[in-house]
This record gives sequence, structure tokens and C-alpha cells, in this order.
Amino acid sequence: MSRFVLKRRPAEDTPPETPVDDEAVADTPERAPAPAQEEPEPPARERPEIDGDMLEAKLQIHNKLIDELDLSNLDQMTPEELRTQIGVFVTKAIADQRLPMGAAEVKDFTDDIVNEMVGLGPLEPLLQDDSIADILINGYNQVYIERGGELELSNARFRDNLHLRRIINKIVSAVGRRVDEGSPLVDARLADGSRVNAAIEPIAIDGPLVSIRKFSKKPFTLEKLVEFQAIPKPVADFLYGAVKSRVTAIISGGTGSGKTTLLNALSAAISHKERLITIEDAAELQLQQPHVARMETRPANLEGNGEIKQRELVKNALRMRPDRVILGEVRSEEAFDMLQAMNTGHEGSMATIHANNPREAITRLEQMVAMGGLRISQEAVRGQISAAIGIIIQAQRLSDGSRRITHVTEVTGMEGEVIQMQDLFVFKRVDTGEDGTVIGEFRATGLRPKCLDEMTRKGIVVPAETFDPSKPLLSVGGKNG
Ligand SMILES: Nc1ncnc2c1ncn2[C@@H]1O[C@H](COP(=O)(O)OP(=O)(O)O)[C@@H](O)[C@H]1O
Ligand SMILES: [Mg+2]
Repeated sequence: MSRFVLKRRPAEDTPPETPVDDEAVADTPERAPAPAQEEPEPPARERPEIDGDMLEAKLQIHNKLIDELDLSNLDQMTPEELRTQIGVFVTKAIADQRLPMGAAEVKDFTDDIVNEMVGLGPLEPLLQDDSIADILINGYNQVYIERGGELELSNARFRDNLHLRRIINKIVSAVGRRVDEGSPLVDARLADGSRVNAAIEPIAIDGPLVSIRKFSKKPFTLEKLVEFQAIPKPVADFLYGAVKSRVTAIISGGTGSGKTTLLNALSAAISHKERLITIEDAAELQLQQPHVARMETRPANLEGNGEIKQRELVKNALRMRPDRVILGEVRSEEAFDMLQAMNTGHEGSMATIHANNPREAITRLEQMVAMGGLRISQEAVRGQISAAIGIIIQAQRLSDGSRRITHVTEVTGMEGEVIQMQDLFVFKRVDTGEDGTVIGEFRATGLRPKCLDEMTRKGIVVPAETFDPSKPLLSVGGKNG
């Protein structure tokens, strides 16, 4: 507890809500719209600095509460019940001590205590404020927040670095990790999916450094990606149909190119009757299905034991009756098990891979399988790959910052020892606009996808124009962009 409310901000201080500006969003497809622009929300009410005496009084009440409240009962109470109980206690304690506090102040005080006991203390109001995208803590008394793309110093404070460390421990221990002088860097995740990185002393010099990337509650849909011109509508429709009819898809791209975003968006095509199992190093997928079993790897503990790798999770997933296995990112030996899954009744499984083009994605897969040290010939590996994978979708962040789907490529089989691939749709850069934007167009190559037969059998109709190479499906950049 470090803050205390002495007076409220006058209402007229509250900034007016900014209107939604859809056009501004559409004009800058390379930028994810800040949540603040989509749904303006008033910023968290500011709380003024603390008065020393009040802080002391408050600490006393807090300690008394911990002494008198039956802590063993805490687990059985809902946060609402806890809030009510604490509210009663606090009101009485304040009256006993004749502290000059109004009803709203008592409520803030109660909230602070509840947040401290069941939540993450001073971080709670920031976590609950959807207009905040990032929280960056540089020691106990400096908490920055990012809102609408801009950084600002918030009023949140911890009591001291020890208090901050306690909150960090609470976060990392909830996901079975630890942080101490021996391993002062840690990645973790909050219950709501927000990603946390913490660095403590001695690596961090002036007190613990914590970076929280808040989970965006609304992942981009395919419609949004079409709106941002990341992908032409006909191609999005084709991919939707392909995923729906269980064509196995790999999404390839560099870091931050939009792979996970596309995977999330495409998952909307999967029937709600299917059982999905997701496997990730750090859970970030937001699949749109009700029936998702999520698993996450675990790093080794301090003694070097207990590591659970993706490979084990993929193997285990196959014993869990999945309809599809979704691998957040394939990066190593688990590639082999993933391919096996895809070839043995789990068609329509999906994964992302770090590669610069579809051909490279295949080469990387081969290398990953080799990392497992299995004694199988290169030819056999290639056979597995070509049998397992239907399409490769390449995502790319272009030089102007825009993110586009640059290739949709089909794996068609083997010829001799070579995996055969054909591009179905490509984004071609034509020029650079005066404004520095990449001018380019998406076009079909005119090749008819082999998977179309299967799609048609399953009742999915793709209009013939989708594959017409004579005119671009979408032109972007320059003045039109
Ligand atoms: N087409 C797009 N337009 C605008 N922003 C995008 C687009 N695709 C992804 N993003 C944003 O880019 C960032 C990185 O995306 P992500 O899918 O996590 O990339 P990757 O998985 O390739 O590292 C995220 O903040 C995401 O919201
Ligand atoms: Mg990703």
C-alpha cells in the first residue's frame, strides 16, 4: 500500500472522450489501432501523492486486518465477498480511529487492500484499464504506461523495492517460475494472458524492471486484416475455406510479421465441434473456439531439472484425442512429431515458423527434424513434409512498416527428391510512393490449387475470379494506400 487518496480530481479535469476515428485507422494499415481509439475510455482516475500520517494510519489498519481476518478462509471467498468483509472492517477501523475520510476514499482504500491481498496491488487499476497497452516499471517509484502509442508516467507506486519484488514473485510463482539473484531474468504470463518480463537485482541496477505487454482482448479478425489491406478479401475467403476443410497450413514469417495474428484469425474457420490442443512456449494464442486445451512448455528449474519441451507436449497431445493440434511456433525437434500428427488423422493442424519465404520454411522444417537426431533419410523426411503440409502462408513486415501476406503457396508433392511447390497468390512490390510507402499489388498466379477438389467435396465454393491472374486482387501503397 503506497498510495492514499486525500482528494478527488474535480470532474471537469477528466479529459473528454475522443471520438472513434475509423478513417484514421484505415489510412494507416501498418499500425495496429490502439484500443483507446476503438473504444475510448476515460483514463484511470488519478490519485494524488500520499500524506505521511495517513500512510501510517493506513498501514496500521492493513496490519490489523491481516491479524484479525481469518486468512485460512480467504481461498473460499469470492473477491466480492472479500471486498464486502474488508469494507466492513475498514469502515469500522476508520471510525474507531476518527480518520477524516469520505465514502469514496474508504472505497479506494478498501480496493487497495483487496488488490493487495488477492491481486497485484498497485498494478491492478492499470491492468483493469483497457486503454493501457503496456506497463513499464523501473523500480518501485516509477511506473510508465503506454496509451494510444504514447508513454506517460503514471501515479502508481510501490511501497519500496521489496514490495515490488513481492508482486513480481506473486506473478512468476503463479506460472511455476522463480526469480532470484541466481536467475534474475524471467518471463511469465498473467492469468489474463498478458506477457510479463522481469529483471531484478543485480542485473537491474536501480530496482526491479518489469515490462508488461497487456493482452489485447480483441484479436484481429480476418475481416480486420482485410480492412488493413494485409490480405485481399478473395484470398482471405480462400484461406478461410481451406482451413475449414482441414487443409494443413503453416504460417511463415519473420519476428513481428503477423504470424500469430493470422493464426488466431484463421482459427475462426475451425468448427466449434472440434477439439483443439494448443502448444506454446508462452501462451499467447487466442483461438476463437470453445473447446481448446492449452499447454505451455516449462523451462528447467534452478537445479536444471523438470524441463518440459514442445516435443513432449506434441507427443502427449496425440494421446489427448485432438481433432487438430495448433503449435504456436515450431522451432526444433518437435517438427518431426508435428509432421507425424499432421499425417495421421490430424489434418488441418497448424503452426507458425520463422522463415523468410515458403521455400525456406520447408528447408527449416527439414533442419528441425534433423535436430531430433532420428535416423531417417532426407528423402523420407521430405516425403513426410510434402504429405503433411497443404499450404504455406507467408507473412511479411514491409519496409514501410505495413504487414502483408506476401505468398500463399501450395505444397503439391514430390518429384524425385524435390518437394514441389506452387505459388497461388503473391504480393508484388511495384514501386515506392513519394510518401515512402510500398506500392504493390496482390495477384493470383492463375494456378488452380490442388486442394480445391477437397474443398469442393466439402461444399466450399470458391469463385473462379479468385484465381484470375489478369487483374490485381488488390493494389496498395502510394496515394491509394
Ligand atoms: N496486418 C496487420 N496490420 C497491423 N498490425 C498487425 C497486423 N498483423 C499483426 N499486427 C500487429 O503486429 C504485432 C506483431 O504481430 P504477431 O502476430 O505477434 O507477429 P509474430 O507472431 O509474427 O511475431 C502485433 O502487435 C499485432 O497486433
Ligand atoms: Mg508469434
